[in-house]
Amino acid sequence: MAARSADAAQRRLAGLVRRHGSPVMAISRGVLNAQMRRFRRALPRVEPFYAAKANPHPGVLAHLAAAGAGFDVASAAELEAALAAGAPPGRVIFANTIKPSAAIGSAAARGVDLMTFDSEYELDKIAERAPGSRVIVRVKVPNVGSIVELSLKFGADPADAIPLLIKAHRLGLRPAGVSFHVGSQCTRVGNYVEAIETAAIIVRDAALKRIPIDIVDIGGGFPIRQLDRDEDPFDTMAAVISRELDRLFDGHIRIIAEPGRFIVGPAAVLLMRVVGKAIRENRHWYYLDDGIYGDLSGIIFDHAKYGWGVLRKGRRQLSTLAGPTCDSLDIIARGEDLPELEIGDVVYATNIGAYSSASATCFNGIAPAKIVMTQ
Ligand SMILES: Cc1ncc(COP(=O)(O)O)c(C=O)c1O
Repeated sequence: MAARSADAAQRRLAGLVRRHGSPVMAISRGVLNAQMRRFRRALPRVEPFYAAKANPHPGVLAHLAAAGAGFDVASAAELEAALAAGAPPGRVIFANTIKPSAAIGSAAARGVDLMTFDSEYELDKIAERAPGSRVIVRVKVPNVGSIVELSLKFGADPADAIPLLIKAHRLGLRPAGVSFHVGSQCTRVGNYVEAIETAAIIVRDAALKRIPIDIVDIGGGFPIRQLDRDEDPFDTMAAVISRELDRLFDGHIRIIAEPGRFIVGPAAVLLMRVVGKAIRENRHWYYLDDGIYGDLSGIIFDHAKYGWGVLRKGRRQLSTLAGPTCDSLDIIARGEDLPELEIGDVVYATNIGAYSSASATCFNGIAPAKIVMTQ
């Protein structure tokens, strides 16, 4: 039974390359729905604002907008893409704490008035270009063990949160809440627990100072199953996060989150073809038509580890996969256990929806993969 469905899956993958050419990234609407359902079921109090940076493809944004997601955008271009996909301006948060003044102005002109900040310089810019906006202070929280550290670059000291919110009020802005990010692919629930406690202290202090904040934004970071590990920690972590949110915040506090990887990571498969072959140091090297400068850029920028598959059967041997550019940085995987491949064979990577095509370049004039939305 399992073997038959694996064969059907492989036939489907072969069909995608025949129909669309190679390289091609197929993003499944069914998996996007399943991830949204899973998020909402495990965190019933939390409104997901999909982090468009993870994968801003218009098909992904339109599908999630229709499913009722809000959007976290990091730039004026992402903001335009979210609105074009059908997101109402009131369901968009401009969640880059450092924004060019012109981008702040264009957000205000498009009716997006919810923004994060973590310094007083940013508040001055927001007050000038988007007067009256609702502002959320982002604080620095532990990112222990997360695959991508974000507190290195962002977040006010929690002790400065209240003075910053007071300054926002003085500048004519509307202090709205507090946010944090525990680091991407966070598998340590303690990061969330500590960050939620920090946010609760800020909410309590704000109430004592009569600053009317009512949003807690718990950021992104929700993990997907990693291919080198057996466990899938999301549900266990989400149960703890839910319990802490209910314990620390009464019903008038609105809880939002900015999941990126969790929603789109598992939804995509990238299919490539072997365009070159060599034997070097007694090992087969296969050169693919996509690589580190293209849709596999997450290997560098996102410290990603993907699962590899091929459509050919045979005796396996340790092999090397490399990308199509002239740079020797462009080596994708060493020591993969693969059957002997021929030029034209298909190699695919799974779990590759997040931080992949989003950071692909056209280095050497080689275009990234075509993206198609599938059922
Ligand atoms: C401000 C902000 N929100 C949300 C995200 C999405 O994080 P993740 O994909 O880990 O859910 C990021 C990722 O860098 C981010 O910087």
